[in-house]
Amino acid sequence: MQVNTETSQLIQEIKRLKKQKKAIVLAHNYQNPEIYEIADFIGDSLGLCQKAQTTKAKMIVFSGVYFMAESAAILNPNKKVVIPDLNAGCAMADMISVEQLKNVKKKYPKVPVVAYVNTTAEIKAEADICCTSANAIAIVKSLSSKKVIIIPDRNLAAYIASKVPGKEILSWDGYCPIHQRLTPEYIKQGRSQHPNAKIIAHPECPLSVIKAADYVCSTTQMIATCKTDPSSEFIILTECGMIKRLQRELPHKKFYSLCSLCFDMKKNTLQKIKEALIYEKHEIIIPEEIKQKALKSLTKMFEVLPAKSTRNKSATPHSSSFTILK
Ligand code: 13P
Ligand code: SF4
Repeated sequence: MQVNTETSQLIQEIKRLKKQKKAIVLAHNYQNPEIYEIADFIGDSLGLCQKAQTTKAKMIVFSGVYFMAESAAILNPNKKVVIPDLNAGCAMADMISVEQLKNVKKKYPKVPVVAYVNTTAEIKAEADICCTSANAIAIVKSLSSKKVIIIPDRNLAAYIASKVPGKEILSWDGYCPIHQRLTPEYIKQGRSQHPNAKIIAHPECPLSVIKAADYVCSTTQMIATCKTDPSSEFIILTECGMIKRLQRELPHKKFYSLCSLCFDMKKNTLQKIKEALIYEKHEIIIPEEIKQKALKSLTKMFEVLPAKSTRNKSATPHSSSFTILK
């Protein structure tokens, strides 16, 4: 990547600070490309959780959004986890409160609650098991209960219902505003402009978009899919920063996307990462009881293997019923 002198100096300074502090930087795929240059690991929510669990570093600087840094802190109780920008939140994670979840649990006392990782630590603490976009189908399939509550993403829940047979899926009515904007009309337009391109959608997209796509993947699974699929062009239906990540990994292929930006994901900058390393801020602090309970939900998730990206054209003989909770 070509960078100016100022950015290059910042990169060198961050690399020096990382060594000095025995720290690593974990970065989500949607981060700005200059952050890739100083990241020790770039990944999706699942990969970042796994990396946070196994690192020997003393401090983790988490360049992503708050719920992701929280998951790293829950999985790594003896390490300092800091987030460069404390205001990097997730609109979807804020769509369900603990009180609302407790009311749902009262109404459906024996039904397991699957919390998408895009939730706060308090919500994870109230759930039975977590899932990410990479393993959601496998997680729901692994549950013996016919009825399953999925929070907070109605789009992910509808996708799961379309792929897992024989369940009754009850979903919270949350969504990601960045993925909600993507429509089947955009796919139609994309297919006419780029007839040879394969279409890859994130499971946070509406089901109408998912159904019209060729593949449905987590952000990291998108990289693997574009590597193995022989096509040279892809239309990527997720936060648009993802195409910069794909271009970096696969410079000989072409990627198109609709400009749908997650401003929270872009709040971390090299300057803020440098300050996070110097001042060891902003530390993620979670009350011990919440941490222990949330850890149980995350640990249960790791007992189930991650699902592979789904070839969307494969037939789905039976799907599950799908209801939005009122
Ligand atoms: P991934 O786990 O697929 O990276 O998704 C996280 C996310 O927040 C997508 O909007
Ligand atoms: Fe949350 Fe959507 Fe941003 Fe992902 S893209 S962090 S789900 S608001």
